[in-house]
Amino acid sequence: MTAPLTEHADSRTDAYAVRLEAVSKMYGKDLLALDRVSLAVRPGEFVCLLGASGCGKSTLLNLVAGLDDVSGGEISSGSKIAMMFQEPALFPWLTVNANVEMAMRAEKVGKDERRARAQELLDLVHLGAFGKKRPHELSGGMRQRVALARALAQEADVLLMDEPFGALDAMTRDILHDELERIWRERRPAVLFVTHNVREAVRLGDRVVLLSSRPGRVVEDFPIELPRPRRTDSAEVATLAATITDRLREEVGRHGR
Ligand SMILES: Nc1ncnc2c1ncn2[C@@H]1O[C@H](COP(=O)(O)OP(=O)(O)OP(=O)(O)O)[C@@H](O)[C@H]1O
Ligand SMILES: [Mg+2]
Repeated sequence: MTAPLTEHADSRTDAYAVRLEAVSKMYGKDLLALDRVSLAVRPGEFVCLLGASGCGKSTLLNLVAGLDDVSGGEISSGSKIAMMFQEPALFPWLTVNANVEMAMRAEKVGKDERRARAQELLDLVHLGAFGKKRPHELSGGMRQRVALARALAQEADVLLMDEPFGALDAMTRDILHDELERIWRERRPAVLFVTHNVREAVRLGDRVVLLSSRPGRVVEDFPIELPRPRRTDSAEVATLAATITDRLREEVGRHGR
């Protein structure tokens, strides 16, 4: 179930990193993309958002990022937010270093400190030797890692990730899961991670929130209590993923009829 939004929690501004209360989104006059979605993410919590294509996952992330306005309800998030898109969205004319430094430049961090922090972040994603390359000289997985370093450079309290590893092969994805988890454990941002991939959601999340087909509504909130680090191919992950997949199928089927 969605975390209860009690009076008590209301009065503590740090109780949630992100909170949506009955958020709806209409596109034009008659396309209801999200229907009264309530969802709370605590500081440091890793929440995966799962749902059929077109159910409003990207819409939800865009609203949280402030890239679009809600049609109803409220979003509160006092924290600093970074977003990682499905496509790496790097600046092709800039080097890897410059791409990572971009966010810090906007915040007027001095040149030497920018350099040092970019190097540290690139080391963190195992790309320490690639700072002078340009994006076209990297593989897709490496570009995603640069995008991850760039998102982390913003030192946000909330990291929004829209299917960041969707286009990668399973092996690269596994490596990035390990890296993301390691970084998340070190820095503890709250993460809202959108995926189609049920196993990926179970591998990474403290909770997996299932959205219905359009209009998106929260239909179930699964706590994932398996010990970390988890393996995507472990029996425990597979079993839980199967349960969630059945629920997802039911939901897609119900709306598809
Ligand atoms: N800017 C927009 N203008 C009009 N309609 C939009 C816009 N963005 C999204 N939609 C519609 O809203 C619905 C939800 O789209 P959204 O991109 O949020 O889905 P999604 O869950 O992210 O799907 P996917 O898993 O395929 O990425 C879709 O029906 C889509 O056509
Ligand atoms: Mg999407």
